Amino acid sequence: MNYHIMTLFPEMIEQSMSTSIMGKAIEKNIISVEAVNIRDYTLDKHKKVDDYTYGGGAGMLMAAQPVYDCHRAVSKSILGEDSKRKVRTIYVTPQGQVFDQAMAQELSAEEDIIFLCGHYEGIDERVLEEVVTDYVSIGDYVLTGGELPALVMMDCISRLVPGVLNNEESAQTESFDDGLLEYPQYTRPEVWMDKKVPDVLMSGHHANIEKWRHEQSLIRTKERRPDMYNEYIKQNK
Ligand code: ADE
Repeated sequence: MNYHIMTLFPEMIEQSMSTSIMGKAIEKNIISVEAVNIRDYTLDKHKKVDDYTYGGGAGMLMAAQPVYDCHRAVSKSILGEDSKRKVRTIYVTPQGQVFDQAMAQELSAEEDIIFLCGHYEGIDERVLEEVVTDYVSIGDYVLTGGELPALVMMDCISRLVPGVLNNEESAQTESFDDGLLEYPQYTRPEVWMDKKVPDVLMSGHHANIEKWRHEQSLIRTKERRPDMYNEYIKQNK
């Protein structure tokens, strides 16, 4: 999996991706991260990338030219000189489809993904029409830029790429996979603050443990995410 992030703040991406599980996956050459500074592509002699909005209104807009030239350079580095194929290009924006586990699963099969991170009040619509394949939001709230959303998505997608987590199973059994939240879990000691680990987990009886965990998942999902619970019940009638 090769990520290419078009941004005005490449250091934000580089810093976050260099630690912990992402850092290890990069070291192992399972994923790669290339942060490209859009500003390097502006033809403006003062290195400006933004301008006023036609029609008025608050704030500045990222101009089409630097974004387009940056995208062409990144695409060319992936595909070579004369390919007509389009690389999956995600514009992270609150005006997109809301990111979820199913979308992460689908994207984890791509070889290359370009993330376009906006700043200011957005990007000139004409260049978006030319380069973007997917408009994706991470939720119904507004952030100051696209870098954090791109990092959230890369983190979520990467843990589904084979070899990124040491334990294949842990990517599979997490919350959301079967439409339910994960059951409660415990480690040593057996008693802590007068709270004892549930007996069934100490029993060694695998069928009973599975049953208990499924029941706990149902209880937890009903309590914390009634929307998910109702959908699960509908699907599993
Ligand atoms: N940019 C600003 N807010 C965002 C959001 N919620 N999701 C994706 N990109 C964004």
